[in-house]
Amino acid sequence: MKIAFFSTQPYDRQFFEQENTGGKFIYQFYETHLGPHIVQAVENVDVVCVFVNDKVNAEVIAVLAEKGVRIIALRCAGFNNVDLAAAKTHGIAVCRVPAYSPEAVAEHTVAMLLTLNRKTHKAYNRVREQNFSLTGLLGFNLHGRTIGVVGTGKIGKAFCRIMRGFGCHVLAFDLYEDEDLKKEGVQYVTLDELYARADIISLHCPLTTDNKHMLREASFQKMKDGVIVLNTSRGALIDTVAVIEALKSRKLGGLAIDVYEQEEKVFFRDLSDTVIEDDTLQRLMSFPNVLITAHQAFFTDEALTQIARKTLTNIEKGLHQRVSDDDPAFLD
Ligand code: NAI
Repeated sequence: MKIAFFSTQPYDRQFFEQENTGGKFIYQFYETHLGPHIVQAVENVDVVCVFVNDKVNAEVIAVLAEKGVRIIALRCAGFNNVDLAAAKTHGIAVCRVPAYSPEAVAEHTVAMLLTLNRKTHKAYNRVREQNFSLTGLLGFNLHGRTIGVVGTGKIGKAFCRIMRGFGCHVLAFDLYEDEDLKKEGVQYVTLDELYARADIISLHCPLTTDNKHMLREASFQKMKDGVIVLNTSRGALIDTVAVIEALKSRKLGGLAIDVYEQEEKVFFRDLSDTVIEDDTLQRLMSFPNVLITAHQAFFTDEALTQIARKTLTNIEKGLHQRVSDDDPAFLD
């Protein structure tokens, strides 16, 4: 079974090699994203394995079909970057890893919230410079605060539970209510009520065609002054231009993001010697109350092991077995 991996980093190779017991799979690793610019180079493989920022649109899929590719295997949960209709038309199966470690993402979200609030990133640097002053490091207690969670699937649920442990009131909005969470004290409300009542809002829903820019100027207007927004889900859930205005007007008290609308041009690379041309990102990075990490919420040993294992299982299943209609790893 031959697999071409795109957008690979050294750790992808490490974990996929570890899981290739018996050498069943033959790997080709490419650092570049998959997209129209490179798809013609795909030759003689059964599977392409892609990640969050590969562009698997109708044009790319048509070429993959011509080249005999049978499976597009996403080594992530989100699949907003794949044209599922085009894949279906060309008879290419699309699979993903629906749950590899929801706790990894939930815990990173909490880490970002704590850092932004208690300014541990600034304290660390200060103390190394022998600056032991506390001025400017003032935070607030999370205990007793109201957290609004949008999307209470696997990651949102894990996040709700951690925040309940901190002694927070947890409000939630989802298209479907989770009965376990309700029993544990999470209160489902409308999105508008969540915006109006939450001190901290965290996004854990997928990006779909319906919710692009769900946080935009009109949504920020409905929120409390000084609200903190967390996004470890997908960048385009937030209108970046509007969020910059909300930060400038002090409507937003803080923003922590692990994902960014235009992240495919910068994330997962060392650009420390490069002039970054994305002025919007540069403006975001200039705020003292904005914390950005480069799509690392999933990045734990447990998660990478699970991603490699499940991706290879999906591929074997997709190539050799009948896939049941209700298998959540396979999309149509
Ligand atoms: P999931 O499928 O278990 O849960 C998603 C939840 O969102 C579901 O309960 C669904 O009903 C709800 N939902 C869908 N549309 C909604 C809307 N418009 N408003 C409110 N709720 C809505 O997915 P999971 O595993 O919890 O992942 C959530 C998202 O996290 C993924 O779609 C992905 O974009 C992101 N993610 C980010 C990672 C990172 O490293 N930063 C890693 C893994 C996932």
